[in-house]
Amino acid sequence: MKVLVVGGGGREHALAWKLAQSPLAEEVLVAPGNAGTAAEPGVRNLPVAADDLDALLEAARGERAGLTVVGPETPLAAGLADRFEAAGLRIFGPTAAAARLESSKGYCKDFLRKHGIPTAAYRRVDSLAAAERHLHGRADGPVVVKADGLAAGKGVVVAADRAEALAAAAEMLSGGRLGAAGQTLVLEDFLAGEEASFICMADGEELLPLAGSRDHKARDDGGRGPNTGGMGAYSPTPLLDAALERRVVEEIVRPTLRGLAAEGVRYRGFLYAGLMIDAAGDPKVLEYNCRLGDPETQPVLLRLRSDLLAACLAAGDGGLGGIALDWDPRPALGVVLAARGYPGTPATGAPIAGLEAAAAEPDVKVFHAGTARRGGAAVTAGGRVLCACALGADLGAARARAYRAAARIGFDGKFCRRDIGGAG
Ligand code: AMP
Ligand code: GLY
Repeated sequence: MKVLVVGGGGREHALAWKLAQSPLAEEVLVAPGNAGTAAEPGVRNLPVAADDLDALLEAARGERAGLTVVGPETPLAAGLADRFEAAGLRIFGPTAAAARLESSKGYCKDFLRKHGIPTAAYRRVDSLAAAERHLHGRADGPVVVKADGLAAGKGVVVAADRAEALAAAAEMLSGGRLGAAGQTLVLEDFLAGEEASFICMADGEELLPLAGSRDHKARDDGGRGPNTGGMGAYSPTPLLDAALERRVVEEIVRPTLRGLAAEGVRYRGFLYAGLMIDAAGDPKVLEYNCRLGDPETQPVLLRLRSDLLAACLAAGDGGLGGIALDWDPRPALGVVLAARGYPGTPATGAPIAGLEAAAAEPDVKVFHAGTARRGGAAVTAGGRVLCACALGADLGAARARAYRAAARIGFDGKFCRRDIGGAG
């Protein structure tokens, strides 16, 4: 069958690459894709934007896609899955109601509290006066300010103290930085610990965990600098061992799916829980995403040996219970190569050199993210340009290989973190 992948980032390149390996896949179409998906065997780009719901529906119909798999949150939050389901088209991704877990942080926090799912204490506010009242009513110290709406990973400020938190709140509420997404905020207690990304597939009833992973969200080494969508990731993370995974499933994810079902919402699609694990080893939800992580997907799918398309089809039919996924036991690590300016407005249009040399290393895969084709060559077209991924006998070997590949690639304004796989 033909499969349509919605999106054009690194996650979608990894998805298209993996889905195209399935014996069930006749061809994988990507809307709109990037220079990497354009060059992938068995994959073809469609000139359709990932947030143009009408055009996506038309493309899926016109191409007779047997399944659509959605990468980014924006079309899901806008109701892409609802539209496809109403039209009788098969899609793997949650409805708008289910995607609210990501599209409204306030809704998500209220939901978690209502269902007794562990998460940081918080207050929802919609004015600076309310933010001041809340913050003056508690000890001065680190606090996290989150815009309620979708902000492409840029709506969270981990403030060191009250003054910094109020400055961030004022900026978000003014609408200057994030527009309507920042009109209401969540002020959240700061949680200490280590982060892990738990991603699973859900079929409305059952869930199937993917391999655990960890991403590095801050722009700079040591976890410093502004938050980004993610500067690199690796899988597995020793933090999310079998015992903790069981707890996350039983204490967090199953109660979430049950709670949604009680509200009349069936969750079908990838579900991502961003977790903070404290010193005692107890997990709390930092956020839910209604999709795969980017860049976590890139190293995670590099390790997947099973047929992802078969799993997505099974999930769509409510049949995840019969599926087991087989993982390469070797760790994988991905380093994001970003363009000057990211996470602000990046420079674009720079030619990219060294892609072939980088890919020549064994067990290396360079996934494209913000790239486009110009005259047959790849140029930069976004903030996160590439993700150089590698498998290795251990995490250190994977890291060394990924950085060797990353070093072979050159473009004007290229930068990356040097410590992916480390503590920060
Ligand atoms: P989120 O998009 O809500 O996951 O937030 C982005 C990043 O901000 C997370 O990956 C954490 O690094 C950090 N963060 C979010 N909430 C908290 C919290 N309550 N305590 C500490 N760090 C947080
Ligand atoms: N890497 C974090 C995310 O995809 O939200």
